[in-house]
Amino acid sequence: MRLSLRLNLSLIAGVAIVSLGIALYETQSERSGLKRDLERQAMVVAETLEKSAEPLVATQSVPSLQWLVDQFQNHQRLAGVVVYNEQGQALATTADLSARLGHAPMPMAREHWKQGGIGEFFRANSALMHVYELPIRDGASMIGALAIFHDARYIESRQAAVWQHALTGLAVQTALIVCVTLLILQWSLGRPLKRLAVWLGEVRRGSAGEKPDLPDSFEPLGREVAQLATSLTAARAAAEQEARLRDAGESLWTADRLRISVQTKVGDSRMFAISNREPYEHLRRNGAVECSVPASGLVTALEPILRATDGTWVAQGTGDADRETVDERDHIRVPPEDPQYTLRRVWLTEEEEQGFYLGFANEGLWPLCHIAHTRPVFRAQDWEHYKNVNRRFADAFLEEAAGERNPVVLVQDYHFALVPRMIKEARPDARVAIFWHIPWPNPEAFAICPWQRELLDGLLGADLIGFHVQAHCNNFLDTVDRTLESRIDHERFAVNRRGRFSFVRPFPISVNFPNSQPPEGSTYTERAALLRNLGVEGTMLGIGVDRVDYTKGIPERFRAVEIFCEKYPAFRGQFTFVQIGAPSRTHIRRYHELMSEVEYEAARINRRFETSSWRPIVFLPRHHSHSEILPYYRTADLCMVTSLHDGMNLVAKEYVSSRADEQGALILSRFAGASNELVDALLVNPYDTEELADAIHRALIMAPEEKRARMARMRSYIREHNIYRWAGDLITELAALRLDAVEERPREKPHLLARVG
Ligand code: G6P
Repeated sequence: MRLSLRLNLSLIAGVAIVSLGIALYETQSERSGLKRDLERQAMVVAETLEKSAEPLVATQSVPSLQWLVDQFQNHQRLAGVVVYNEQGQALATTADLSARLGHAPMPMAREHWKQGGIGEFFRANSALMHVYELPIRDGASMIGALAIFHDARYIESRQAAVWQHALTGLAVQTALIVCVTLLILQWSLGRPLKRLAVWLGEVRRGSAGEKPDLPDSFEPLGREVAQLATSLTAARAAAEQEARLRDAGESLWTADRLRISVQTKVGDSRMFAISNREPYEHLRRNGAVECSVPASGLVTALEPILRATDGTWVAQGTGDADRETVDERDHIRVPPEDPQYTLRRVWLTEEEEQGFYLGFANEGLWPLCHIAHTRPVFRAQDWEHYKNVNRRFADAFLEEAAGERNPVVLVQDYHFALVPRMIKEARPDARVAIFWHIPWPNPEAFAICPWQRELLDGLLGADLIGFHVQAHCNNFLDTVDRTLESRIDHERFAVNRRGRFSFVRPFPISVNFPNSQPPEGSTYTERAALLRNLGVEGTMLGIGVDRVDYTKGIPERFRAVEIFCEKYPAFRGQFTFVQIGAPSRTHIRRYHELMSEVEYEAARINRRFETSSWRPIVFLPRHHSHSEILPYYRTADLCMVTSLHDGMNLVAKEYVSSRADEQGALILSRFAGASNELVDALLVNPYDTEELADAIHRALIMAPEEKRARMARMRSYIREHNIYRWAGDLITELAALRLDAVEERPREKPHLLARVG
């Protein structure tokens, strides 16, 4: 039934019940009032007549009595008068009373005469009548009676009039209610609903404009519909993109595809991640708590995975307001604006931080794995802290995963080499992967580490061990082969240790390739403005973005700029190289010295060539947000990624992803993992500063067509091999492993683990 009809019927029924109730009450009280009046009137008439009639009845003078009653003939509403003798026989009667009664008048209450006057309503010829009988006394003895008859039909007429009045009122009210209700419905519901319907129609057709203005009471509905519209638009865009890609024979990984893929592949299992750096850090700034999100590829990749199963990310709490934002179990739901998974924070003491993070991880393993000619330092107390902290993270995971069947855990990086074994020993049903984000050196280099066997054994607790490139996988397998008792399955790239297999695979990490359009303004103007803001009048820009780390080859890069200025003097006053350098691990002496070295080199080279309005190098030693870096990426003529050794290097991929205009050139170290994929970059040996200087020159004079062709090929590669694909491949591989071989199996029957799919 329509809303308006329902509302009207309910209101009308309500009003009708009230109106009829009132009408009923009014008629009843009117009727009893009129009856009472009539009775009183009859009594007065009777008593008046009784005084005149008494001597005539006593003397039985019938003609006089007849004369007397005839006097009442035309009395208002009086139907007639009868005088009875003691026996109840009529002595005198008004003329037409018998006709009105339909019979001769008879006393109605003779037996009650002794008690005094008595009245009664009755019907004669279906008309309502009233009779009042009053005994006539002569002193103490009763000698007769008289009866006063009244026509009482006017009482019923009055009652009917009251009803008619009530019903007319009801009809008028009903009409008013219907009109007012329809008007209110139209104004308060009909119009906003119509606007919403028109807007939804536009959303459905994909031509939605702004959300219409709605009354306050409609705002919650409006907000919901706005969100629905946003989701619908996003879903439509995703579907269109999917269709376009399918049409082009491609298949792009997106956050949604990754989420769904994880749900399909891991089934009921819950996902966990373990990393040293946390995805959300709470910091106190000017008295208020702020949440800072690192612009990290890892967060982009792991979030859809954890969201897919409402999983848990275990990480070190490092923010100064981190403790006050967690609950009693050190949990906080994230992302803050739309919580979908749990961050479990682990707290480290200063000694632990020093020994585990600065010491063993960053003074030991980092230089051990990067061949950059900084000696690793291994201290026994750092190793103790490394083991203890690994145990604490493994325990935190075990606590979180208690009660979960077949949890899936992705351990991140060189900070946690021992965690996979610790987890596997306690939870053989867990699927464990570790991804090593840095290079793996050759066996001779790795053998420097006094605890290489323990580290390898810890790693081999994982079912899957990931590196960025095949060469690192090969180095790892060679290292295991040389160091531990185990069998290497070269065909399947797996290590068989005590009957358990660990598979070793390359998963080149990547970035979230944005679906952006080329900027509308002129790149030239934007670039010149950027330089002017840095106090440089120039037309050509080179950019480098790194943590200030000795593996990144920053001093070599600066020396290459120096040589470029010497060799190609025409570019002086034109080309400036901007180095964004985020200070990193500054508590480690080598990093501290490096910062001074980089600053010194920049100043030295600038002194050689600078003019009043130009200098060849601008060094910006502070952390820059992604949005601050983007204008440099979008406008730079070239980007230099000249790591001496690097697992992958995402700056190279970010620069390419930012060049929707298909311009710019990438100078990329052959010793960065990215050089395996970005073969259209100008590949260089970062130690060969002459070659580097020539590469700068080549990039600056490269024809726009060649730039476009190279950039387009690199962009197309990264678009397909994006961060979601990295995570998707990792999960696909991990989920496909069978975990039916455990360490207890006898050594002579090791090969029981097979891969499915
Ligand atoms: C490298 C490592 C990461 C690390 C990052 C920043 O990329 O592979 O695990 O988080 O450097 O270093 P930091 O010591 O500041 O975490």
